[in-house]
Amino acid sequence: EQIEKGGYDHFMLKEIYEQPSVIKDTYRGRLHANKGIIQMAGVEDNLEKFTNARRILIVACGTSWHAGLVAEYIIEEFARISVEVEYASEFRYRNPIINSDDVVIAISQSGETADTLAAIKLAKEKGAFVFGVCNVVGSSISRETHAGAYTHAGPEIGVASTKAFTTQITVLTMIALRLAKAKGTMSNSDYQRYLLELELIPEKVEEALLSNDVAKTIAGIYKGAPNCLYLGRGYNFPVALEGALKLKEISYIHAEGYPAAEMKHGPIALIDEHMPVVVIAPKQNHYDKVVSNIQEIKARSGKIIAVVTKGDTQVRALADHVIEVPDTSEALTPLLTTIPLQLLSYHIAVMRECNVDQPRNLAKSVTVE
Ligand code: G6P
Repeated sequence: EQIEKGGYDHFMLKEIYEQPSVIKDTYRGRLHANKGIIQMAGVEDNLEKFTNARRILIVACGTSWHAGLVAEYIIEEFARISVEVEYASEFRYRNPIINSDDVVIAISQSGETADTLAAIKLAKEKGAFVFGVCNVVGSSISRETHAGAYTHAGPEIGVASTKAFTTQITVLTMIALRLAKAKGTMSNSDYQRYLLELELIPEKVEEALLSNDVAKTIAGIYKGAPNCLYLGRGYNFPVALEGALKLKEISYIHAEGYPAAEMKHGPIALIDEHMPVVVIAPKQNHYDKVVSNIQEIKARSGKIIAVVTKGDTQVRALADHVIEVPDTSEALTPLLTTIPLQLLSYHIAVMRECNVDQPRNLAKSVTVE
């Protein structure tokens, strides 16, 4: 097992550090940035189904559901197709409205999650075209779907998903860009810029991993916190949910992710000097709004841990701690802002002497309801 961990103390840490190379594996042979081409066989073969889709329904569970939420923002923005993201377990039991011109995307690392599999069967019965985004080759979901795209993240052993999440987002971003091109919903210059930026993501993830030492120091300060709040807006709202989930899963600290603007409708009541608040605040569209959210937290003595764009000064002046990630195009920021949050929960869990790779009560693959 020590050999399999490749010198890392835990599989989770190894998998976090594998992200630059597996993201590259995910787009290799599919993304040709210089030629302005994205080619994924499963999408090309069914391009009309996608471009004619009245709606895209995404079904998934857990971390894969969070990747689906990121995809909702990206697909709607790039390809102007309406997207709904559903927990597979809810979807399957509520007599959902599914039309034959809907495209269903099922996201699953293992390809074995019982609820996701059942949702796929239901969607197929109702005549929808079902596309799978799976990691495990030959898995039940990859066989049950009409077509799909593998994430090529390699085996993920740590129960808490890390590299599966970022590679799912990579695949879904490529799908969104391909559809945008086919539908003409994005300018050529934006399209080209996104392709080039996506190609640079692995090296930027590498740079984001340099936040490990800062994440470890922050972990040492907050390892005893009973609660933690994660806030983000837009593309980074799902990252807040995923950051909170990672912390819950492996450190058993109660954590909640919230859209930053919703804070005033509840979570703000919880903020006092004992509450660490992780704010994802890259320098993008909603930056000023997030800055005012940070001021609101500060006014209530909350402890602010901010994930910011490299070189940021405004948030740095307000926050108790900042973790920098490189700059990129707005829609791609989740691929970078996620990294320090994975590291933060990892270090907190290690310091709390939790079983990082096999947290209590959780399973890597949930094959029963
Ligand atoms: C379990 C795992 C999670 C995972 C979820 C969905 O809860 O512990 O890490 O996100 O199942 O799994 P899937 O294989 O369908 O992505």
